[in-house]
Amino acid sequence: MLINILFLAFLVALVIAFGFVAVRAWRSQNGVVKWGGTILAGLLTVLFAVVALVVGKGTFDLLRPYPVAPVSVTIEGTPEQIARGEYLAAFLCASCHSQNGELPLTGGKNLSDDSGIPLGDVYPPNITPAGKIKDLSDADIFRILRSGVEPDGRLTAMGFFPVRYLSDDDAKAVIAYLRHSQPVEGTRPPLSPSPLLAALVALGMIKAEGAELPIQPVTAPPKAATKEYGEYVANFGDCRGCHGPDLTGNAPPPAPPGASNLTVIVPNWSKDDFFKTMRTGIDPTGRQVSPVMPWKTIGKLDDVELEALYLYLHGLTPINVK
Ligand code: HEC
Ligand code: HEC
Repeated sequence: MLINILFLAFLVALVIAFGFVAVRAWRSQNGVVKWGGTILAGLLTVLFAVVALVVGKGTFDLLRPYPVAPVSVTIEGTPEQIARGEYLAAFLCASCHSQNGELPLTGGKNLSDDSGIPLGDVYPPNITPAGKIKDLSDADIFRILRSGVEPDGRLTAMGFFPVRYLSDDDAKAVIAYLRHSQPVEGTRPPLSPSPLLAALVALGMIKAEGAELPIQPVTAPPKAATKEYGEYVANFGDCRGCHGPDLTGNAPPPAPPGASNLTVIVPNWSKDDFFKTMRTGIDPTGRQVSPVMPWKTIGKLDDVELEALYLYLHGLTPINVK
């Protein structure tokens, strides 16, 4: 955060300096200096002022306190619930909260490294019982999953991820697993967003969609190989994070470029094609799918959930872009 404040101070200094030069140029007797200097310095003043406003707004959005929605949850911690939670954590949390993409959730790599653009320090912390969650109640964790907001109102990076689509039952199952997982010591550096990340937040390219809203009950359709259940898996599984809101492959940065148009590809695939691609990383044309596409993680879904996902995508109306 300090870097953002220093960067803002630097921008404000530039705005003042170029504003001063513009005024001086305007007073010049020499026509070339008067017009050329005023326009050039004036444009630079406006440019730096706009950048300062955007980064300033994003920094404010990241620092200001958010409403702490009231939550009350009871976690039974039955063996079935813990098993469901472990399955979901391996699919959904391990890709970020672990160095190798597998359980336990001992904390992950800086998300900035994979995004290809400097986002600052965005380390998913250790969330085993010896890590970050030891100071959080079940309700606090539930609120973080839904809205990204910590008990003191700080907006965490979790607010930017689609974990909030998990149903109440699935979110509780994940918490049951977290509480019963093996404690492992270790910490990760705290969140320190770069000016660029602040700008992306200010421009609405990264949105903390749940942070302002009251927390509402979320139910999932019954787990079965149906389109409806598949849509639920696509939502919490973040297909839209890279493939865009309409799944045509048009998500803006910081999503990686090059995600395929799923509305055109999957309707032409058999169930077998889809299963093989997600479980082996080789698509029906024999091509190795890029490691940017998290097929290894998606391939961890059980047969019912993977088939549901297939049925949902297979039933999409093709939308041709460009
Ligand atoms: C896309 C990457 C990503 C995914 C997926 C993800 N997390 Fe996180 N998580 C983060 C990052 C980054 C932070 C650090 C946030 C911060 O400090 O602002 C975090 C922080 C947390 C925290 C601590 C919040 C705090 O108080 O600092 C909890 C609890 C948490 N995650 C739970 C989960 C669970 C459970 C899942 C799976 C259901 C999950 N996360 C999936 C990236 C992710
Ligand atoms: C981190 C970004 C990211 C996420 C999240 C993501 N994808 Fe992808 N996906 C990609 C990229 C990039 C490609 C293009 C890969 C290539 O061309 O090798 C791709 C390609 C695909 C393809 C076509 C593969 C081929 O060989 O034609 C399918 C199908 C697919 N994704 C399904 C999904 C589904 C289903 C989800 C959600 C469960 C999902 N993706 C989530 C980035 C992502």
